[in-house]
Amino acid sequence: MSSQRKPSIVFLPEGRELEFVAGETVLEVAEAHRLGLAHSCGGMGSCGTCRIVVESAPVPLPEKEGLELEMAENRGFQGNERLACQLQAVPGLRFWAPED
Ligand code: FES
Repeated sequence: MSSQRKPSIVFLPEGRELEFVAGETVLEVAEAHRLGLAHSCGGMGSCGTCRIVVESAPVPLPEKEGLELEMAENRGFQGNERLACQLQAVPGLRFWAPED
């Protein structure tokens, strides 16, 4: 019998593993697991409330572009701060959600 593990991302600090389906954004994964991540604009990339901090990722993440890049520049995001609604989940991504 083979056990097939689905890819997952890790929510810190609990270290909770969140399985996902390829193509889902981090916000979609968080919603599927009822994480309660803020997302005032419903994932349109315009509110910034879904901001997360990426602790680490096993592969380089795609560069910010479009709405995410614009917001990151306007609000002075650090390089590891991303919008969960604009970032596709990659296996092994470890992240946390700032309180502010
Ligand atoms: S949910 Fe509004 S920017 Fe991501």
